[in-house]
Amino acid sequence: MTALLKVENLTVIFSGGRKREEVKALDGLSFSVEKGESLSIIGESGSGKTTLMRSILGHLEPSEGNVFLFGKNMYRASRGERITLRRRCGMISQDPYGSLPPTLTVLEAVMEPWLLVKGRGERSEGERRARSLLEEIGIYGEDLLSSRVRLSLSGGQRQRVAIARGLILQPELLLCDEPTSMQDASTRGEILAVLQRRQEEGMSMIFVTHDLFLARKAARRGIVLHRGVLVEEGLCTDLLTAPRHPYTKALVAALPRLTPTN
Ligand SMILES: Nc1ncnc2c1ncn2[C@@H]1O[C@H](COP(=O)(O)OP(=O)(O)O)[C@@H](O)[C@H]1O
Ligand SMILES: [Mg+2]
Repeated sequence: MTALLKVENLTVIFSGGRKREEVKALDGLSFSVEKGESLSIIGESGSGKTTLMRSILGHLEPSEGNVFLFGKNMYRASRGERITLRRRCGMISQDPYGSLPPTLTVLEAVMEPWLLVKGRGERSEGERRARSLLEEIGIYGEDLLSSRVRLSLSGGQRQRVAIARGLILQPELLLCDEPTSMQDASTRGEILAVLQRRQEEGMSMIFVTHDLFLARKAARRGIVLHRGVLVEEGLCTDLLTAPRHPYTKALVAALPRLTPTN
């Protein structure tokens, strides 16, 4: 069986900056995700999580290694093939300010990917889906749906709009980069429930977070990144309760105390 995603010896080096220093953002990373499976990617700020997301979608050329998405080598694919492969993925980027088109209304921002792929003829179906997704994720009321993204949304609301936008094409693989960082605990739970329903319907998900509790709620399996290196891999519950690598142990030690409600 071909893996849905296979990352092989991926190394990304950024050079430049004032001192022309080299930063190895990813260092020889290998892992795979099977169809219908989800994976949490755990690491602190600067560990390379966002670089990994961008590399998977072919927005960055690695210094070494390969990414196979749906069995196709992302870096050998033509521009057109890359676009086709990306369309089978949903992406919720870390920054909901930069990733939503600011001049569109909330409803238009969610419908936009649908219209780009399906065409204007499918507008009413797109609108129906967008409304239903937005309601599911807790964004409703005509005033809110018809207001401009730039003017009237909080960071948390923008994040939820970005999630609806990432789901509208029913992706086979959803890549989400700290998608609930601006939510309070109860909204975070509601969002995870929405994502879990999609997973039960067969969607795979890559969920990026620095929070091991959240990682465990989002996916069964996880990998821990430290300075671009995969230091530990396993069931999220084992990473939390029986970490082996010193860095994972430190992440666990920094968490609020384990309680049954977590
Ligand atoms: N475009 C870039 N140019 C130079 N350095 C970068 C660039 N993007 C990320 N980095 C560096 O790569 C490392 C990993 O960054 P990033 O992938 O954003 O980490 P994370 O998402 O885990 O916080 C950091 O040291 C960061 O400064
Ligand atoms: Mg990041």
